[in-house]
Amino acid sequence: MSGIKTLGQFIIEKQADFSYAKGELSRLLRDIGIASKIVNREVNKAGLVDILGDAGTVNIQGEGQKKLDVFANIQFISALTSGGECCIVATEEEDDFVRIDSPVSKNAKYIVCIDPLDGSSNIDCNVAVGTIFSIYRRKSVEGEATLADVLQKGTQQVAAGYVIYGSSTMLVYTTGKGVNGFTLDPSIGEFCLSHPNMRIPDGGNIYSLNEGNYVHFPEGVKKYLKYVQVHDEATNRPYTSRYIGSMVGDIHRNLIKGGIYIYPTTAKSPKGKLRLLYECNPMAFIVEQAGGVASDGFNRILDIEPTELHQRSSIFIGSKEMVTMAEGMMTEFS
Ligand code: AHG
Ligand code: MN
Ligand code: MN
Ligand code: MN
Repeated sequence: MSGIKTLGQFIIEKQADFSYAKGELSRLLRDIGIASKIVNREVNKAGLVDILGDAGTVNIQGEGQKKLDVFANIQFISALTSGGECCIVATEEEDDFVRIDSPVSKNAKYIVCIDPLDGSSNIDCNVAVGTIFSIYRRKSVEGEATLADVLQKGTQQVAAGYVIYGSSTMLVYTTGKGVNGFTLDPSIGEFCLSHPNMRIPDGGNIYSLNEGNYVHFPEGVKKYLKYVQVHDEATNRPYTSRYIGSMVGDIHRNLIKGGIYIYPTTAKSPKGKLRLLYECNPMAFIVEQAGGVASDGFNRILDIEPTELHQRSSIFIGSKEMVTMAEGMMTEFS
């Protein structure tokens, strides 16, 4: 295996970065990697096994759950339960947080917030989907962890990452010391380092948002849309519109090529659609660690004080120059 560095080897090598951890965070990241491989196996066979379509249930978000939403949720909770390093899981697919009920986990140090399957609307039509996770240290030092241990600002994350089940399956994560990407080699069943030290370009010409909501966009977003669509060769405009309806897919592409992803307030989502704890915060941590910016149009995502488990936020995330331009237009109308 010369030249190959697996996720497990990389995590062990970086162990020295976490003075406070004696291997627990490493095991937690490996537990997430294992569950991702199990989800990947089902995503890759979707269409041949009974994993497509609706589960027939509705989650607390008011969304019809897909079978893969439910399957992925079960896989991550069970991997985190058997790993023993996590005491609470907050997941998109459960109304309340899940206290990991095992003698080992009761005193475990870590909290995981997770979107087990991001981009569910794409599952049945074979477009890239993902998983998004965020890891915190519990604040309480004794007794059972509580909601207060979950509702921590994004700046308190010790790690965050995503898996993209796309043309290849990748796991991208940060622990606050840069961003590294690992591609799954199915022939050996290992995530292998393929994108060391990922950086998002400061500038870009890709914008990602659901223009179907145009009439309800804030004036600043409408002005930004007009700006990107003007013909001006000197500034490489009009930019290119790319939007696949999977936050993980849209942001991963923008991370590689440069770009901006915007999900502003809309009539249907007056507080924004994306969830702070397990979509906005982890993606903001990753993009900032890669040199980009993430805000709600006015305030840094990572500084938002959470008050509810499934609270939503607007998000403007991506290349520094593009997000700053869009924020300037939002401020003009505030
Ligand atoms: P999820 O599938 O986890 O509920 O998230 C879907 C999110 C995000 O992934 C995507 O960018 C956005 O919803 C798409 O929303 P619209 O279909 O309203 O554009
Ligand atoms: Mn959903
Ligand atoms: Mn999602
Ligand atoms: Mn989801």
